[in-house]
Amino acid sequence: MNRHLISAADLTKDDALLILDTAEELARVSERSIKKLPTLRGRTVVNLFFEDSTRTRISFEAAAKRLSADVINFSAKGSSVSKGESLKDTALTLEAMGADAVVIRHGASGAPHRLANWVRGSVVNAGDGTHEHPTQALLDAFSMRRRLGNLEGRKVTIVGDVLHSRVARSNVLLLATLGADVTLVAPPTLLPVSIGTWPCEVSYDLDSVLPKSDVVMMLRVQKERMNAAYFPSEREYSRRYGLDRDRFAKMPDDAIVMHPGPMNRGMEIAAEVADSPRSTIVEQVANGVTIRMAVLYLLLGGEI
Ligand code: CP
Repeated sequence: MNRHLISAADLTKDDALLILDTAEELARVSERSIKKLPTLRGRTVVNLFFEDSTRTRISFEAAAKRLSADVINFSAKGSSVSKGESLKDTALTLEAMGADAVVIRHGASGAPHRLANWVRGSVVNAGDGTHEHPTQALLDAFSMRRRLGNLEGRKVTIVGDVLHSRVARSNVLLLATLGADVTLVAPPTLLPVSIGTWPCEVSYDLDSVLPKSDVVMMLRVQKERMNAAYFPSEREYSRRYGLDRDRFAKMPDDAIVMHPGPMNRGMEIAAEVADSPRSTIVEQVANGVTIRMAVLYLLLGGEI
């Protein structure tokens, strides 16, 4: 594996399977009453979050702690970033504190790539702008594999605000590597102009794709990143692209529903669908800790 994890495209099929298989081993540890391993004792993991997060930040912290690493949590709010300190100077300060791995979430696409040039430790992208979120794609693949088995030839439909979604890009790249067939469904206004170069199909008609899907992954409508009107109204968006009870009934009986969270309940997904036994949304959160343990373990070269 590479020293850093910045894009899902950094992973070969063997790398991705190694992470998924390692996570499977580590999941057994998570089921024990004492969940801690001594693997990364004496190593330091810095969580550097310039953008808000609940799941990713907490799960990276839990993952590093379960592997016995020392964890430093840095949030831009309340730091010297508010006095104008640059990403580079912040990174060099953390480097001086002996970070073996830096987990970064940043609003600017490409920030983790820049950071990797400035620090000696491993850099893990925890979400950069609208670019990528590779550990989310890994935990999603892990969640799918646990429910459905091998992903080769599985039909995965990803629905919604693809334009602003780092989750969609990382999932498309990783799922293509793992041999799944991905279809993106979105209004034309919420697809990036480069979509023709992505390794997936595109459809504007959710109802025609649902009956052929093994997995339906709903994306959050990212209102905070929207600086224009991308659809006429929330009601209209929900009517065309929301997963409500009637649409859920069109999916095959064994198909699963996913969402990376946080959700806009009632907009892209109905509450009863989100809370159904065929939804993996809560499992995805638990699997996030396991996958991030596997990533830190493999990047920092611990021994099980
Ligand atoms: N899925 C995800 O990245 O969630 P958070 O923004 O809460 O970390």
